[in-house]
Amino acid sequence: MRGLSGKQVEHHFDVIIIGAGAAGLMCAMEAGRRGRRVLVLEKADRAGCKIRISGGGKSNFTNLDISADNYLSRNPHFCKSALARYTQWDFMDLMSRHGLTWEERAHGQLFCAQGAVAIVDMLLQECAGAGVSLRYDCEIARLEKRGRFELQTTRGGFSCASLVIATGGPSIPRMGATDFGVRVAKQFGLKSIPFKPALVPFTFPGGFLKDLAGISLEAEVRCNGAGFREQLLITHRGLSGPVILQISSCWNKGDAIVIDLLPGTNAADWLKAEQGSRPGARLKTVLADKLPRRLAQALCEHLCANLPLQQFPQKKLDEIGVTLNGWRLFPGGTEGMRTAEVASGGVDTNELSSRTMEAKSVPGLCFIGETVDVTGQLGGYNLQWAWASGWCAGQFA
Ligand code: FDA
Repeated sequence: MRGLSGKQVEHHFDVIIIGAGAAGLMCAMEAGRRGRRVLVLEKADRAGCKIRISGGGKSNFTNLDISADNYLSRNPHFCKSALARYTQWDFMDLMSRHGLTWEERAHGQLFCAQGAVAIVDMLLQECAGAGVSLRYDCEIARLEKRGRFELQTTRGGFSCASLVIATGGPSIPRMGATDFGVRVAKQFGLKSIPFKPALVPFTFPGGFLKDLAGISLEAEVRCNGAGFREQLLITHRGLSGPVILQISSCWNKGDAIVIDLLPGTNAADWLKAEQGSRPGARLKTVLADKLPRRLAQALCEHLCANLPLQQFPQKKLDEIGVTLNGWRLFPGGTEGMRTAEVASGGVDTNELSSRTMEAKSVPGLCFIGETVDVTGQLGGYNLQWAWASGWCAGQFA
């Protein structure tokens, strides 16, 4: 059979999945189990590169508490069906069948006790058991639909009835990550939301934060109606830590973030009580009871004066309290795709069936995982979306 540009199409499959990442491998094993002839094409020299580095090598593979509220998407309802059909419990069952165990950490986050590579091995074993073929070091040169999908690749020509795009998002480009998924969507006339770095540290060019690098504390950070309370880390470049990564997904250039340095404490009331009980104590000494010492000192120098508490009028204590509970900062930017854990945006969910992930206007073409405009919070939510969306497409493709 002759395909694209008259070149030979050498191999025919029921399903071709582009991308051997979390979503692609899950989809492949499920479709294979249904008796479909499945091929996975991967441009790297091995599968699951991002799974391998996830969770610092331990993979925070899911979370005990998963709901649509943990995801950002232009359509907040889109992810509900997939998350309900393939749950965190289903993935834990799969791991148990392979003898894998997990550790629960804060906020219901589950990490693989045997390490992230064990999860990749498990998925590859499942794919092998389901008769799935894999080709590595495979770049897609061209693809088009002429009844069937026809692909010209660096590993030859292929055709398939169902094509699943599972190429992830463009974060961490040094790993070969690209926006391939949205380019395919565009080729077929489907809309996309531009990719944007998410779960990423903020940068603050200049400023006094630089001198505070290394300080870490629990804080609540708010932006655009969202709020998270977790650890905050001051770095040489700006702000990082789980609370910053979380809020970064809700931030747009020019927005302020509001940091509560004393979450759960009304700072003004506390300072007034301290003024009553130890009027001679200097502000820095008092702040250092609840904040890291270097931060307490810097706040005194930059925001007010390090006087004994008795010298502050009540109004000034109110002002200091407002700052401590709601410190407004304008990040200069983010560290960008270079370090972002995920990219928000992707193929517009309005273009897809929430049950099958198939494009409504292109029968047989599915998009899964991070390529789709569904972005999870930090805590295992992105991998759970990859498993769930991959599973749904695997039941259909
Ligand atoms: P994924 O990126 O996994 O896979 C896409 C695959 O497609 C890759 O193998 C890629 O090489 C391949 N590909 C791309 N373009 C191609 C092309 N043109 N042709 C062929 N193949 C192509 N999430 C979480 O829930 N818990 C966690 O602990 C972490 N930790 C974490 C750490 C770090 C450092 C990063 C960068 C990310 C995380 N994540 C995470 C996010 C999580 O890894 C990510 O959301 C999922 O891997 C997305 O799964 P996908 O299958 O969609 O893409």
